Amino acid sequence: MRSLALISLAWVGLVNAASASSDWDAAVGKANDFLSQLTLAEKTAVVTGANPLTGLGCIGSIGPISRLNFSGICFSDGSSGVNRADLTSVFPAGLTTAATWDRDLMYQRAAAIGDEFRAKGMHVVLGPVAGPLGRHPLGGRNWEGFSADPYLTGVAMDHSIRGFQSTGVQAVAKHYIGNEQETQRTNLTLADGTNIDAVSSNMDDRTLHEVYLWPFVDAINAKPAAVMCSYNRFNQTYTCENSKLLNGILRDELGFEGYTVSDWYATHSTEDSINAGLDMEMPGTTVPGQGVSWFGDRVAAAVENGTVSTDRLDEMVRRIMTQYYLLGQDITDYPTLDPSSLSVIASQYQQELGSLVTNPPARDVRGDHATLIRQVGAAGAVLLKNVNGTLPLVSPANIGVFGNDAGDLTDGLVYQDPPATNVGFEYGTLDIGGGSSSVRHTYVVTPLEAIKARARQTNARVQYILNNERLAVGDFHSIYPVPDVCIVFLKTFAAEGFDRVSFEADWNSTAVVNQVADKCNNTVVVTHSVGVNTMPWANHTNVRAIIAAHLPGEETGNSIADILWGDVNPSGRLPYTIPVQEADYDIPIANLTSDEVTYPGAWQSNFTDGLLIDYRHFDALDIEPLYEFGFGLSYTTFELTTDLSITPLSSAAPDPLPAGNQSNPLTDFYAPLVNVTAQVANTGDRDGASVVQLYLSMPSESTPAGTPVRVLRGFEKAQLATGEAKSVVFQLSRRDLSYWSTVDQAWRIPAGQFQVQVGFSSRDLPKSAQLSIL
Ligand code: NOJ
Repeated sequence: MRSLALISLAWVGLVNAASASSDWDAAVGKANDFLSQLTLAEKTAVVTGANPLTGLGCIGSIGPISRLNFSGICFSDGSSGVNRADLTSVFPAGLTTAATWDRDLMYQRAAAIGDEFRAKGMHVVLGPVAGPLGRHPLGGRNWEGFSADPYLTGVAMDHSIRGFQSTGVQAVAKHYIGNEQETQRTNLTLADGTNIDAVSSNMDDRTLHEVYLWPFVDAINAKPAAVMCSYNRFNQTYTCENSKLLNGILRDELGFEGYTVSDWYATHSTEDSINAGLDMEMPGTTVPGQGVSWFGDRVAAAVENGTVSTDRLDEMVRRIMTQYYLLGQDITDYPTLDPSSLSVIASQYQQELGSLVTNPPARDVRGDHATLIRQVGAAGAVLLKNVNGTLPLVSPANIGVFGNDAGDLTDGLVYQDPPATNVGFEYGTLDIGGGSSSVRHTYVVTPLEAIKARARQTNARVQYILNNERLAVGDFHSIYPVPDVCIVFLKTFAAEGFDRVSFEADWNSTAVVNQVADKCNNTVVVTHSVGVNTMPWANHTNVRAIIAAHLPGEETGNSIADILWGDVNPSGRLPYTIPVQEADYDIPIANLTSDEVTYPGAWQSNFTDGLLIDYRHFDALDIEPLYEFGFGLSYTTFELTTDLSITPLSSAAPDPLPAGNQSNPLTDFYAPLVNVTAQVANTGDRDGASVVQLYLSMPSESTPAGTPVRVLRGFEKAQLATGEAKSVVFQLSRRDLSYWSTVDQAWRIPAGQFQVQVGFSSRDLPKSAQLSIL
């Protein structure tokens, strides 16, 4: 039976591979046919964006060519739902999704977002995000991506790309690469006309491969239509004209077959960019005060004067159009663009478009996605502290709700660009950040609303104060009697274009929590945050429970009520490290005063921390975190009930990989070498899900200096009924067991003993074993 099953699986694999390659051949054939009919001007139009406000009404678009029945390509943000549109869903942010450590939910979320893009008639989702990765805990866009750990982010990239593209929309892995801060993320022109270049992210080759490129490798393996090069410079050269990054790594080393697209106004040259491997410029229009187009007519001129070859331009068009055909976007019943798109985008840009702004009714694409949003929102909540079973709540008769994050939004239902700010609004719950990955709400279920709804079921009383200024000075005179439980909601905002300035949650959060906890001996703190916070109040004796709920999307109140009342047993785990104090992090954002900008290229960010970001930094320096990477509690308990068993999958040592080329299509690189099996049991009295994590320590004698103490190389989320035990199998690939040798320019498996550790967080690893490959 067993071998039969294996045989039929192998057949399915062969059939899939065969149909994938015939789909690919068919798409290339259609792209070639299309290409053969284009004039030079039309070719340049396919590689250059058209004005969003006069074009299709998308944040970027490739214009139609009606004589060939090509209706154009619409690009839209963002990675947590359709931005700049009406009647769409606000999904949990990338950070929240990473905190679920749940592959299935990662995929389902992306597929649901993809559905909404397609139903709006859009072709390209500008996401998912693997850069920023989260080198800086205060990076303003970390929440758009997933985790500061490359492995976890890589898994999330893979599942997100497959999820998006399962619906027939194109995914764009962004921002490639080293886009770790918003401060001076792009160039600016001073009043006297001097150009000041974007920050340069300077890193060595090993750091690039093992940290920042790692999740992009998973992305490429999932075959996204496109990769977006970022605003910043990389080792002094803008990423969108960096031949090593675009031609060398993406194409030659990783075998990427899609197209590259610039971030909006991240192109700085014509032939240099094109010959370095840039296939498409966005937004492609010159707008005074915003940016310049380097493509369009300049591409035609470059072809005519021979600095760009016709072959290269044809390759650009072929790469772009192949993805369009591969995803089936040429079919006649591909949804037409929602007629409201142009109007929504115009209103958000506050542009005067006269009769164009007619407010046609939007197409409602939300379907039943609220159910999934609520589920992912709850699954991404991490229970950090829970003294003596404070949670779940058991029929409290008198509930206190405190903090300006608990109630309704008071500044409107959208906080996108422009005018994004680094502060955010004062009153109203935070369920998504600001900027291009934000989404316009049609509604938001606030925590206060959801708690009141629960309370009504048992006739409980809900008292609340949402004014942080009053709370911070301890003005509680309206509260009587003291609640049985006091739930404080804190928020930490961030938006594209800004980095954060504080580790603590916003709006006087520490004083708010301390004042509430001083008066209420059963205080629960819930944070809605874009990332790492310090929690100076965490050890206050009256703070009995803490939940890091991240950015849960529009069902936020229901998601947190499900956790507070125990309908959902918490199963989220931290995708980053929470420090005791901010000094423990020590990776500041590069910042210069105007006096320090002594030459155009003055902005430099040296990634001297190398591989040692987030928990690797804490482990290397032996710093005790407040809550470590991978940590999270449950309402039940779990144990590993057997020793690890290690099974080599081949008796022969693998041949070394050739230098610098893992391409076609990364198969050897992902080849499984070892299985590690553990058994996990639910030893408590509630059903729940455990996240079993595997960390690997490389043999120190045969790996270069700077190798982390341990790195995440596997995780499995196991749903377990009370008393149930399950085997969890981690398959370690050649890649998992390799480091990047800068000398060999290849991935190498070090000789000697690896230590494998398995457990429940990066600091709770009760089982270990040794293994060696060479
Ligand atoms: C700039 C952002 O960096 C990018 O993420 C986004 O996709 C484009 N703007 C388009 O909005």
